[in-house]
Amino acid sequence: MSKTILLVGCGKMGSAMLRGWQSAEGDFSIHVVDSNEEMRARAHAGGVPAYADIAALDSNFSPDGIVLAVEPGAITRVLGECLRWKDTDAAVISVAAGVRLEDMSAVLPSTSMSLIRVMPNIPAVIGEGMMVCCASARASKTSRTLTTQLLEGIGTVAWIDDEGQMDAVTAVSGCGPAYVFAFIEALVRAGVAAGLSEDLSRRLALATAAGSSRMALESDETAEELRRRVATPGGATSAAMKVLLEGDRLDGLLHESVEAAKKRSKELGKDS
Ligand SMILES: NC(=O)c1ccc[n+]([C@@H]2O[C@H](COP(=O)([O-])OP(=O)(O)OC[C@H]3O[C@@H](n4cnc5c(N)ncnc54)[C@H](OP(=O)(O)O)[C@@H]3O)[C@@H](O)[C@H]2O)c1
Repeated sequence: MSKTILLVGCGKMGSAMLRGWQSAEGDFSIHVVDSNEEMRARAHAGGVPAYADIAALDSNFSPDGIVLAVEPGAITRVLGECLRWKDTDAAVISVAAGVRLEDMSAVLPSTSMSLIRVMPNIPAVIGEGMMVCCASARASKTSRTLTTQLLEGIGTVAWIDDEGQMDAVTAVSGCGPAYVFAFIEALVRAGVAAGLSEDLSRRLALATAAGSSRMALESDETAEELRRRVATPGGATSAAMKVLLEGDRLDGLLHESVEAAKKRSKELGKDS
């Protein structure tokens, strides 16, 4: 039977999810709430009913899942507006960075709804996101299944039990696309310095990053094993690896970057 989903916030992340649900096989009846007229017009154009606020929804409207994709600072207000469904078994799924389950539960203290926190990442826009979910202790099995079904439309889904790991998750997969983009940029610049045109260097760097990621995903070997296999002793790749991996500099740099992101994620969580 078709599941009724209310998506609150249809900006970058919300619209990525909406596109995924519309092209996925799941049977979802989606309704959008967004305060921004342009976002509502875009949803309407895709055949999805859109409203300016939750109060505009029919009083009989009762969603199976409520996906919150507004800015972290707007979550408390939106959750307050969801109180009308507090005695239902709806799944409330928040993708807001830094907003803890405890913060959500403080607005909905005595609810039968299931609270779920998700850290998505931006490749969700092309259906290749990484979504890490954590549910409150009282969340139902049905709500977890619905969350998995919804998020599988936009990428890979993983569940963690310890919400304390969310800052590390944010630092690895939430912020991770920026690390990969930075690596690609640097490879493009290095190719230009080695004598290639910028256009050719970009094409080589992008295709190499995409192909290698896909190969690592599909292979039974670890990335380390694959790396060792392409680096023939005495060959060109080995010469490059000697420089790139010397003194664990790359490890050190990524370790520091991930730690900085984790620390900032923690701070943002306290501020929200
Ligand atoms: N983008 C990412 O890569 C990413 C990654 C991980 C997590 N997230 C999380 O996803 C959430 C959304 O991020 P985003 O990048 O998609 O933001 P966004 O593009 O700014 O979209 C948010 C949308 O929600 C609307 N909105 C704000 N308050 C509202 C309310 N009270 N009722 C209804 N609609 C409201 C906004 O309208 P106005 O323009 O009128 O404010 C805007 O259209 C954030 O909590 C963020 O932490 C995003």
